[in-house]
Amino acid sequence: MDGDANEPGRRVYLQDVAMRDGLQAEATFVATDDKVAFVDALSRTGLAKIEVTSFTSPKAIPMLADADEVMRRIARVPGVEYTVLVPNVRGVERALAAPPDEFNLVMSCSETHNLANLRMGRAASVAQLLQVVRLSADAQVPVNVSLSCSFGCPMEGDVQAAEVLGFAATFIDAGARGVTLCDTTGMAYPSQVAALCTAFRTRFPQAMLTLHVHNTRGMGLANALAALHAGVDRFDASLGGLGGCPYAPGATGNVCTEDLAHMLALEGFGTGVDLPALLACARRLGALVGHELPGQVVKAGRRLDLHPVPASVAQARARAAEAP
Ligand code: COA
Ligand code: ZN
Repeated sequence: MDGDANEPGRRVYLQDVAMRDGLQAEATFVATDDKVAFVDALSRTGLAKIEVTSFTSPKAIPMLADADEVMRRIARVPGVEYTVLVPNVRGVERALAAPPDEFNLVMSCSETHNLANLRMGRAASVAQLLQVVRLSADAQVPVNVSLSCSFGCPMEGDVQAAEVLGFAATFIDAGARGVTLCDTTGMAYPSQVAALCTAFRTRFPQAMLTLHVHNTRGMGLANALAALHAGVDRFDASLGGLGGCPYAPGATGNVCTEDLAHMLALEGFGTGVDLPALLACARRLGALVGHELPGQVVKAGRRLDLHPVPASVAQARARAAEAP
């Protein structure tokens, strides 16, 4: 393990998933034009990666039925990676019409959650996804695999770290460049995150590791900090904290991108993110989905966005100066 985990200025990659993980839980369809405009605005905030949409069955996720058109129409900014979620070969075939920079494959470490989310057992998912990995290699599109419920399943309970690392090994051996450890329903806690991320980095030092946490129990930023100190440098997060898996009871949004970016800047990590631009996007997102979002910095302002001094303070100061 390298000793630079807390090196000041260390580069951290912020990957926004609001347009995929966030939107898929929303009840009211967001117009394709609005999605495209929103991704284009996000592209100008300095994010390292944007998960634009998912090429899943439109019956399963009607909100993202327009994935093909969105990917065709977004204006890609050089230096920003555009990734899409694909559950199967059909998804890859569709996505190749406007090839993304990466395919994000998904399966769950929990048998029950996998059956609920993907309507098949884990063994069937592995077999399908290995086919997807081969197809992606032929198309020269890199692959990341997101492992849902890596820190616990809302129906089965604890998930064994050895099992999570076993799935990671299967896909890394097959050629995936990265793995995302997903805390799909906010069950992770900081020492668990540190332990699993450290075990992952020790066993797969060459693989790109991303942490994807939800703030369901208020531990999102604490978990991100624990992962940072364990050397993790890639984080999924969702603008405004939008999100929640539709197949996971009680799920809520990802850790909030702008809140995470704000904390990372204070802690001296380099994200390349233009925080005022990101905050402006977060304000737009509430209007786009038609409800308030859980993000906090948008409401409170940045730490040193100071408030005007109330008039009463000037009077109190004057009185204090006159006092004998
Ligand atoms: N794109 C578009 N349509 C697809 C598709 C894809 N990638 N994969 C399957 N379909 C269609 C099939 O054509 C079929 O359509 P039909 O009913 O009109 O014939 C239908 O979906 C069912 O196909 P099938 O192969 O039987 O899949 P399934 O019903 O077992 O569903 C998934 C499997 C994975 C495709 C589906 O459950 C899904 O998309 N789930 C979404 C998972 C997700 O994104 N969850 C949140 C993120 S973690
Ligand atoms: Zn998620």
